[in-house]
Amino acid sequence: MEKDYSKYFGPSMKDARKRINKNIETIRYELDEHLTNLGKEKTYLIKTYGCQGNEADSEKMAGILQQLGFQPTEIEEEADVILFNTCAIRETAESRVFGELGRIKKIKRHNPDLLIGICGCMPQEEKVVNTVKEKYPHIDLVFGTHNIHKLGEYLYDAYLTKEKVVEVFSEEGKIIEGIPSKRAHDRKAWVNIMYGCDEFCTYCIVPYTRGKERSRNPEDIIEEVKELAREGYQEVTLLGQNVNAYGKDLNIDYTFSNLLLDLWKIEIPRIRFTTSHPRDLDEDTIKVMAKGGNIMPHLHLPVQSGSNRILKKMNRKYTKEEYLEKVERLKNLIPSISITTDIIVGFPGETGQDFEETLDLVRKVDFEGAFTFIFSPREGTPAAKYVEDLDSETKKERLQRLNKLINEGYLKGNQRFEGMTVKVLVEGLSQKNNLLSGYTEHNKLVNFEGDKSLIGKIIDLKIEKAYTWHLRGIIVKDHS
Ligand code: 5AD
Ligand code: SF4
Repeated sequence: MEKDYSKYFGPSMKDARKRINKNIETIRYELDEHLTNLGKEKTYLIKTYGCQGNEADSEKMAGILQQLGFQPTEIEEEADVILFNTCAIRETAESRVFGELGRIKKIKRHNPDLLIGICGCMPQEEKVVNTVKEKYPHIDLVFGTHNIHKLGEYLYDAYLTKEKVVEVFSEEGKIIEGIPSKRAHDRKAWVNIMYGCDEFCTYCIVPYTRGKERSRNPEDIIEEVKELAREGYQEVTLLGQNVNAYGKDLNIDYTFSNLLLDLWKIEIPRIRFTTSHPRDLDEDTIKVMAKGGNIMPHLHLPVQSGSNRILKKMNRKYTKEEYLEKVERLKNLIPSISITTDIIVGFPGETGQDFEETLDLVRKVDFEGAFTFIFSPREGTPAAKYVEDLDSETKKERLQRLNKLINEGYLKGNQRFEGMTVKVLVEGLSQKNNLLSGYTEHNKLVNFEGDKSLIGKIIDLKIEKAYTWHLRGIIVKDHS
């Protein structure tokens, strides 16, 4: 069973860029018998960074670990296995993880049997694997996004060999169905509908770390959602880097709008999806969204910039005008829709005029929220080589101006619900102020007074007051 991991090297960004036209096979995950009981009387802790894709992956790793007998713990000093599931999207995300890897060394000093692993997007970069090998000798496991299903085997080998286990693939493999998920919530679930990304926006490392776009079979997704509904889940979020490209790689005539329509028929109260790409968001999808029902009236539609010149340099494949047209169409067919976005400022070559175009677009769309970022060059992506001609002060100042406008949008988006009665999925009790909180159909956070027994239910709340980051509500009906 044991492998000679000294023969295995890290990934190659160049190979990861390749897109080989081949059919992606789907296989079923099965637990290898020799791994049963590997985690008996042992505990694990997974630290997750980055996007919902990573959160979903962590749930799968937790599922595998629990199947092997490991129990979860929150306490580092007590853990037998600690995994860092990492994000590579910006430099800051990476520095934080390297800091953590350094810090965790002292825990290992007290517990030499502790196994520490780094996985997720960072190990998909050659330079990260090399740095970990050279500078972090206390890290025992290094694997990537394409091989989480082999976690049990890696742990087995690490226990057996006491050597560093490093295995990262550049190329995506098969689609693995049936990995047991240990979901973080019992009412809200992530459901991957596809993996990877073929967009190659020039700033983005995701197509390299997550590989070629590949869609799960519709039957597998529909069955998973039906099963979640049977188990009492209230909300499902469909995940993909570009959900609107769903189905393009399947040899059947079935698109994202077909999938959405099939899921609309299932009796589960709420369906959300992320992330959408403005170019691929099509009329059929907007029409299915307009049917309402369990499809929530919120869309996260990353625009990145409002300048056509910058959009072109980013390889986004749409113009400001085309984006605005889609927004208009969405608002026409779904009048109450809430639209949120992602925006990057300080992309190489962004002039004051380009930035003004972004502010203009933000005003025109009336975004009700946004994640805003300063461009972070990622080694191996085309934009990392573009000439940087902006000083950091200008970038920070632009980010501040943009955030001010975005925050006005958050407040306006919340204010439109004042006095209205809305449906809220109750998520939990805040330790700080003893208030319950949950999210509306439009994805707005509401705090309110109520009994803990409401957690997990969808209830009616009247909105009393809107603030920038949340709403304050009051229960209108007896839900007991
Ligand atoms: N620098 C800054 N922001 C980035 N994003 C992706 N790559 C970068 C980068 N190199 C942002 C985009 C994307 C979001 C998930 O992260 O806005 O939509
Ligand atoms: Fe990155 Fe663009 Fe793919 Fe989104 S669509 S993950 S921004 S390459």
